[in-house]
This record gives sequence, C-alpha cells and structure tokens, in this order.
Amino acid sequence: MAKAKTSFFCQSCGHSAPKWLGKCPSCGEWNTFVEELIETNAHPAEVWKDKGSNRTPPKPKLLAEVSFENTPKISSADPEFNRVLGGGIVPGSLVLIGGEPGIGKSTLLLQVALSLQGPKVLYVTGEESEQQIKLRADRLQASSNNVYILTETNTQQIFRQIVDIEPDLIIIDSIQTLYSDQIESGPGSVSQIRECALELMRFAKESATPIFLVGHITKEGSIAGPKVLEHLVDTVLQFEGDRHMIYRILRTTKNRFGSTSELGIYEMLGSGLRPVTNPSEILLSQREEASSGIAIGTLLEGNRPLLVEIQSLVTQSNYGTAQRTANGYDAKRLNMLIAVLEKRGGYKLGTQDVFLNITGGIRVDDPALDLATCLSIVSSYEDKIIDSSSCFAAEVGLGGELRSVTRIDQRIAEAEKLGFKEIWISKYNLKGLNYKPKAIKIRSAPNLLDVIMNIWRQK
Ligand code: TYD
Ligand code: MG
Repeated sequence: MAKAKTSFFCQSCGHSAPKWLGKCPSCGEWNTFVEELIETNAHPAEVWKDKGSNRTPPKPKLLAEVSFENTPKISSADPEFNRVLGGGIVPGSLVLIGGEPGIGKSTLLLQVALSLQGPKVLYVTGEESEQQIKLRADRLQASSNNVYILTETNTQQIFRQIVDIEPDLIIIDSIQTLYSDQIESGPGSVSQIRECALELMRFAKESATPIFLVGHITKEGSIAGPKVLEHLVDTVLQFEGDRHMIYRILRTTKNRFGSTSELGIYEMLGSGLRPVTNPSEILLSQREEASSGIAIGTLLEGNRPLLVEIQSLVTQSNYGTAQRTANGYDAKRLNMLIAVLEKRGGYKLGTQDVFLNITGGIRVDDPALDLATCLSIVSSYEDKIIDSSSCFAAEVGLGGELRSVTRIDQRIAEAEKLGFKEIWISKYNLKGLNYKPKAIKIRSAPNLLDVIMNIWRQK
C-alpha cells in the first residue's frame, strides 16, 4: 500500500513544508508547524462541472474593453450590510465573516438571506440543525420561499446540491466544519480549510455565484485556520462587539470591491439585529442631569464621523500607586495625557486614581479624542461641569499644544447635525476648513490650557 502522504503546515499562515520546521519562513512564527495528511495527486473537486458547464476559457481583454454593466450587485434590504460590502453583494465574490462565537454571525447572514427578495439562497450549515435555523428564523419573524437549508459538511456533497438547486447566493456556516474528500486530515485543520476554501473560490469565480464564509476567531483574535484564507477571499468582514453589550460593529478589514474604511453598526434585539443608522445617538448616553467628568469628542470610525461620550472619574488614591483604568481606550495614551495635564497644567494627578470610560462599549483610538479626554479628566478633578452643548476635536501634543486632526469638516457637520452649539478645534485646523456652519459655533485655540480657561470662564 502506498505510504500516506503528509506535509507540515504552519497553523498561523498556512505555509507548507516537507519537514518540520521550528520557525516558519513565511510568517516568522515559532512552533507553529503541524503534520497533516494530504492526498495531492487527486484532482480538486469539479463535481459541479459534470453537469455540463459550458464555460469557455477566458481570453486576454483590453482593460478599456472591460465593462461593469453585466455584473449588477445584489442589494440586500440591510443598508449597513450593503455599505460595508461596498454597495452590495458582488457576483462571484468570496466574503469571509469572522467573529467570536455568539456575536451574531449566523443571525446576520440568515437575516440577510431572508431579506433578499428574488435571489435563491442556499444556507449550508455544519454547526446547527435545520430545526435550530428554523427557530432562529421564527425569532427574526421572517420567512422566505427562496432560502434553502442544507446540513452538510462534505464539499463534494455540497457541490452536488448546488448543481440541483442552482442558488444565486451561498452561505457556508462555518468554513471550519467543512471537509473535502481530497484531503485526509480532519475538518478544521489548516490543509482542510485551505482546500475547501479553494474549491469554493473556484466555484464562485467560475459560476459568478457570491459565497459567504463564516470563520471562527481564535483566542488571539485572528480568524482561525491559516491566514491564507484572508489572502484568498475578496472581502474580509469582522463582526465585533462585547457580547454583553447590545451593540455590534461590522467592519471591513479587506475589500477588493470597495473601501476598507466602511463600518456598520447594529443593535442586537430579541428579534434579531437592527441596523443603527444614526450611531451617535446611541453613543451619547441619555442623561437627565449634567455631571462632571463628561466630555463629548468626535471620532472617525472608517469614513463615518461619530460623537462619543468620554467619562472620567478622578478620586483620591488610597494606596501608594495611583490606579489608571481605561475602558475602551488605550491605557498608554491615557497615561500620556495625564502626564501632559500634570506637567503643562499643574494638575496634581499623581495621587489620584483615574478611571476612564467610553460609553456604548466601543473601543476608540482616534487622537482627535485627546482634547475631550483631557477635559473630562479636568472636569472630574475640579468637579466642574462641561456644558453639554459643547464638543471637542483636537489632538493634544506633549507640550499641551492642540494639533490639527483629519476631516475636520465632516466632524463639525456631524456635531452640528446632532444639535451641538459649539465645537472646539485646534487653531491649526482653521486653515483647511471649508465647512460653513449655520447653527454651530467653531471655537479654536492653540493650546489645551486656553480651552480649559475658556470653557469655564464664561459660566
Ligand atoms: P448567533 O448568530 O448564533 O452567533 P454566532 O453565529 O456568531 O455564533 O447568535 C448569537 C447570540 O445572539 C445568541 O446568544 C442569541 C442572540 N440572539 C438575540 O439576542 N436575538 C435574536 O433575535 C437572535 C436570533 C439571537
Ligand atoms: Mg453561528
């Protein structure tokens, strides 16, 4: 009997080598090689082609002659989803959706499938039973005569069903449960994931059928299985958020058909995911009474300007070293801003615990929030309220100077739309400013201390 063929695969990037290696030459990770059974002489699955696909091999074309007209995008009923994909579902595209277990990947895709009027959808599940999917569909209070459910994990069998049903859109939940007969290692292994994804990609490209793959996330936060999956697919979407919070963010990390700076925000309700079209409203907490320690900053998530509320609590420290705790905010940046406040503003924060919280459970890393962060700390330290109709957009340098931030026009426009009366920006942002405000007053300053003096002097 012929000896079983094996190869060593890097579990991090999918690089294959004939013998075990300590360090992966491709991604540089250590101790990632695992031996897996393969069967390379077999030809990749082409079952679906047996039923007479009359495809002619492609010929070179002049770039100028390539037209878009015959590839209309499938538009789902969900505006957030369409936007994240770059305007709709592109025919023949392979889209990977990653996210932690329980975040709502299956819910999102089922919801999209049920919302499509017209296109036939095949939902292949290797994780749940048909009954479970039906239960979920009932929860979503949606039904459709165009959605087929298939519980199958073998790719050859899946292709057989595809030939019968001829779907316009395929959803695979999840890629880690699939296996191909061509490869002998178990489902979820690097070589299986890669083989299954390759077979699906060939099918997607040759039949112009869009395919969505659900991918699980490892503890480290990357899509489990090889990175090769990310190279292979056209679009990678990341579904993230805190499972205990009701908000979810759908982010594009790679997109061959659109911008990667798009972002969709959803609210997880008892009856499914609701697209949130005006996210700033949910990020600003609903409060009746003003309190100290709160400042509103502008944040650019992808292309979207949002307004977020930064809350600080500064209290006398009881122990030797003061605590600094940041929720949804970079702890190093918080320390830097505290140091700036101490050195340039003379605030004695060395003996104070500082707790910082971004409301809405989101993570932010936009330097334009620096000014709002500093002011929220000062506001809590001095126990002075910042007027709730003011917001802030500037980066703070180590000298306490205010630096200009990107897309200031969009940030001001969003603040004005939400009814803010005043926005503080860096003096250096005035030069490039094109926005003509109607209801909002633009205030500028060269320095953090100028803003601090001004906002409380008026009152
Ligand atoms: P699910 O889509 O199964 O997550 P994933 O496929 O990413 O693992 O759903 C996750 C959670 O969403 C689950 O804990 C229950 C909750 N949920 C709702 O809150 N409302 C709903 O309408 C549905 C269908 C699920
Ligand atoms: Mg699921």
